[in-house]
Amino acid sequence: MAFNLKGRSLLTLKDFSSQDIRFLIDLSAKLKADKYTGIFGHNLAGKNIALIFEKPSTRTRCAFVVACVDEGAHPEYLGKGDIQFGKKETVADSARVLGRMFDGIQFRGFSHKTVETLAKYSGIPVWNGLTDSYHPTQVLADFLTIREDFGKLSGIKLAYVGDGRNNVASSLMVGAAKLGMDFRIVAPESLFPEESLVRESRNWAAETGGKIALTTSVDQGVKNADAVYADVWASMGEEEKIPERIQLLTPYQVNQQMIEKTGNDKVIFLHCLPAFHNTDTEVSAKYPDICEVTDEVFEGKHSRVFDEAENRVHTIKAVMVATLGK
Ligand code: CP
Ligand code: NVA
Repeated sequence: MAFNLKGRSLLTLKDFSSQDIRFLIDLSAKLKADKYTGIFGHNLAGKNIALIFEKPSTRTRCAFVVACVDEGAHPEYLGKGDIQFGKKETVADSARVLGRMFDGIQFRGFSHKTVETLAKYSGIPVWNGLTDSYHPTQVLADFLTIREDFGKLSGIKLAYVGDGRNNVASSLMVGAAKLGMDFRIVAPESLFPEESLVRESRNWAAETGGKIALTTSVDQGVKNADAVYADVWASMGEEEKIPERIQLLTPYQVNQQMIEKTGNDKVIFLHCLPAFHNTDTEVSAKYPDICEVTDEVFEGKHSRVFDEAENRVHTIKAVMVATLGK
């Protein structure tokens, strides 16, 4: 069944029904298959898309650009410092100007309020490419990846291990609740998600047959899991917290032993990326113990992280086509 999402913004999956989310995942799979067979829809021909980035990005930026070009739209990258945006001009004024020139806006940045203000004042669809609070387009790619492996989402046991209160964890919890999944946050208590969001998610889960569990125990949290999910221990903007997070989260590192604790040889490993996996980066040179997933798991047979990264383009394309396409 087709759903009409025309003109809608995507700020968080909270505003989308189970059917809306399923529709977007179905459309992503179709657009992926079309691309693999050389079919391009030109659904966004003649559209101009503003891509505002206050924080850096590889996947989200590139996925938006490639998805725009695949469907005939023109993407315009507006990086930190490129435009007057809350500096000499209010976000509301910038939103009204951009709304007169563009057809859609992607925003990645710090405060969730900013993306809400953009949506309120621009008068055009606004898509959240990550704020401190939510990362909804990531979760669509995660769910498409899970469905590619298991053929379904409802009833899937998904264990998110690490910083349980960050943007990715919160978005996964909302999405999992709406799709009837058995979702576990496995984290130290100080990093459990906000209570009000847990309550809301449990209400959605009660309607869909899903489950939302919070646990400090790795053994309980990953037991029988179909998918184990990790993210960085300190998100963008929290760099000063890295030493404290290494202390807190080292027992929650995803390693081969944790994968074996699932008792499921078919378990898949997911990570939104970028990841520290015994890596040689500037940050890991400064903090050698930062490693939320071992190389063995990251590079091993359970890992689907690069399928997941590719799926960002197909799912972001689906969001733009559904909300703005012809
Ligand atoms: N997963 C993700 O959002 O990656 P980027 O920060 O590279 O966009
Ligand atoms: N939680 C991470 C996600 C990066 C895609 C961050 O906000 O930095």
